[in-house]
Amino acid sequence: MSQHTSGPQFQLAHRLDGVSESATLKLNAAVQAMKAQGVDVINLTAGEPDFNVPAAAKKAVLQAVEQNRSKYTPAAGILELRNLIVQKTNAQQPSVSDKNPWKATDVVVTNGGKQAIFNAFLALLNPGDEVLVPSPYWLSYPEMIKLTGAKAVFIPTTVENEFKITPAQLKAALTPRTRLLIVNSPSNPTGMVYSKAEFTALGRVLSETAGAEGVWVLSDEIYDRINFGRIPFCSFLESSPQLHDRTVTVNGLSKSAAMTGWRVGWSVAPSGLTQGMITLQGQSTSGINSLAQAASVAALQLPESDFAEQIATYRRRRDLTLEILGKAGKLEVAAPEGAFYVFIGVKGYLKAGEDSFSFAEAVLEKSKVAVVPGAPFGAPEFIRISFALEEKALRAGCERLVEFLLSR
Ligand SMILES: Cc1ncc(COP(=O)(O)O)c(C=O)c1O
Repeated sequence: MSQHTSGPQFQLAHRLDGVSESATLKLNAAVQAMKAQGVDVINLTAGEPDFNVPAAAKKAVLQAVEQNRSKYTPAAGILELRNLIVQKTNAQQPSVSDKNPWKATDVVVTNGGKQAIFNAFLALLNPGDEVLVPSPYWLSYPEMIKLTGAKAVFIPTTVENEFKITPAQLKAALTPRTRLLIVNSPSNPTGMVYSKAEFTALGRVLSETAGAEGVWVLSDEIYDRINFGRIPFCSFLESSPQLHDRTVTVNGLSKSAAMTGWRVGWSVAPSGLTQGMITLQGQSTSGINSLAQAASVAALQLPESDFAEQIATYRRRRDLTLEILGKAGKLEVAAPEGAFYVFIGVKGYLKAGEDSFSFAEAVLEKSKVAVVPGAPFGAPEFIRISFALEEKALRAGCERLVEFLLSR
């Protein structure tokens, strides 16, 4: 029976059985409600940049409105935008593009990176298929996998190995039912980044293991720009160009251009899969908002240097966060190399019977700091905090958190 019932006669489709609501969206709503009541709560749950959309993107939208660019666009997105996405992807994957460059027909522009991932799952996965998900993971992957009837198989990682899976782990997790491996670097929630060599070693397992010929890779590169420099960003396919025909690269402008609410993402994938995803999108949501596409054309033409200050700001905030958290000696922390989260092991501070949910509730109630429990990311003894907020509030939030921990 579905748990989602709202009356004696009402029952949702079985498809939704066991599928959870987004924990981060739910928490953010609770915090907004507290703020509306005048409570001085510091929100460390944000999954989005606190910067504004680039001015050029705003201007492009106003122009598009004036020019009446209000008609349906192709399901896959306007050609001008797809060409810019191709340019970006080819530049990030020179080992692929030197011989076999991506074309506009390999791109689908989607309603955020989320739809690109869901399109790929729907187009690739059958009930019973296994999807390898390094854990901790972005919390939407398992829920989306459930919606397709496939099964998530988690590959555990630890703080000590910087939350990265090893080639041996990948090899051991492969079965005849494995259909897809997900990689996400920089990662939400851990902020870890795979080096090119580490990705190369994983790619080799998929190309050299007998029986793994049909295994695809979905590389979620939505945080590509937010990298703190120690381990440079590497697009998965750049490390493993031999997997060109079975890799889908997902990216978007939500995090890199602070455009979360404008809902622009995309997939770049071989033509067979792309055709399937266009059919899905054409029969469900159609092409995304025409104005957001005009904005994206402008955002993708901005030079990388326009974002250098944002990245430097994130790096400063990361350092500040780590410095303050360092005062609580029993925390387990791996310094994030990208994205804007710190994933913190709080095992040393949990009371008997407490899990990450009750811990987060206690922090919110006692210290008025909102953090995200680790359980929905696959790590019940962790919490996630975001440093996508201005320094004064970030400092105060981290200090309150440390005070809370030291009082235990
Ligand atoms: C790892 C990861 N992938 C994908 C997404 C989805 O991004 P979008 O808002 O563009 O749908 C997010 C957003 O939080 C994310 O953290």
